[in-house]
Amino acid sequence: MRRLVALALLLSACGGQSGEYAQQSQIPPEAIQSGYTFLQPETQALQDDDFANPGFLWVDKGETLFNQIPETGAPACASCHAADNRPLSGVAAHYPVMDEETGKLMNIEARINACRERHQDLAPLDHESDALLGLTAYVASLARGVPISVNIDGPARNYYEAGKDYFFLRKGQFNLACSQCHNDNWGKKLRGDTISQGHGNAFPAYRMEWQTFGSLHRRLRDCDSGIRAEPLDYGSATYMAVELYLAKRAEGLAMESPGVRR
Ligand code: HEC
Ligand code: HEC
Repeated sequence: MRRLVALALLLSACGGQSGEYAQQSQIPPEAIQSGYTFLQPETQALQDDDFANPGFLWVDKGETLFNQIPETGAPACASCHAADNRPLSGVAAHYPVMDEETGKLMNIEARINACRERHQDLAPLDHESDALLGLTAYVASLARGVPISVNIDGPARNYYEAGKDYFFLRKGQFNLACSQCHNDNWGKKLRGDTISQGHGNAFPAYRMEWQTFGSLHRRLRDCDSGIRAEPLDYGSATYMAVELYLAKRAEGLAMESPGVRR
């Protein structure tokens, strides 16, 4: 914690007040690297081993749910999404996308809940429930290794811009923007972590600090809490927008979920 305070003071000293924007720095495209690069070798090895990687408990649970006929007798996910019928391989690498029905941006979690409500007549699953994390992990795992590429044209553009604004906005007691850690100080040590470039390609992921599996929005909430800013709600429009901005910023990076992180 002391080191975080030191970093915060150092960065805050670079001028700017809460609510103002930090300088719009950028990582050159050729320098884009996954958070995996900055992990200890043991953590990397855990992620690489499909048998030891604890995230696969959620992938397996998700696969089971995907193939299961719900108690109500509604069609299983698998009956509408098979290899020869709306296959889901690779699709997670292109999320979030605009939902044509509501005109809102949706990530994979929101897409799954939309299918439950619209195609299965089931209630949406709670954020961070094992069922939603499992289904999300299963769908994301079908895109492992696929380079991220998202569409920010048309109505998605406003979300992209809002996500970018949030990324550069100074906030919280420490008066820091995401960019000041993840664009300007990646590679430096902070509380035993090496600060990465802040990409979302490993999520949902298993975090040792959580001792469980969690979503990208949970990770974003931790980053916001870390600078003593009010974390936003799971699934909030702003975190959706940040998710789109992060995906565009990480374009070309391979999907890694289920990742393992410290
Ligand atoms: C005080 C510095 C700091 C700030 C500000 C900060 N983060 Fe982080 N962030 C971290 C640290 C430390 C980690 C864990 C190690 C790592 O991957 O960087 C992390 C992790 C992440 C990760 C996961 C990366 C991975 O591969 O596991 C993402 C995504 C992320 N941050 C996004 C953000 C966003 C978006 C914001 C602004 C809302 C933000 N962070 C603000 C320090 C910060
Ligand atoms: C009765 C058929 C049906 C069922 C059951 C169903 N879906 Fe879908 N799903 C669709 C259709 C149709 C779409 C295309 C978008 C739309 O029209 O809603 C879709 C889209 C998707 C997408 C996005 C695909 C893309 O290319 O962007 C995902 C991911 C998905 N479904 C996951 C699931 C999961 C997980 C379940 C089970 C919880 C499920 N679906 C259940 C019909 C279904």
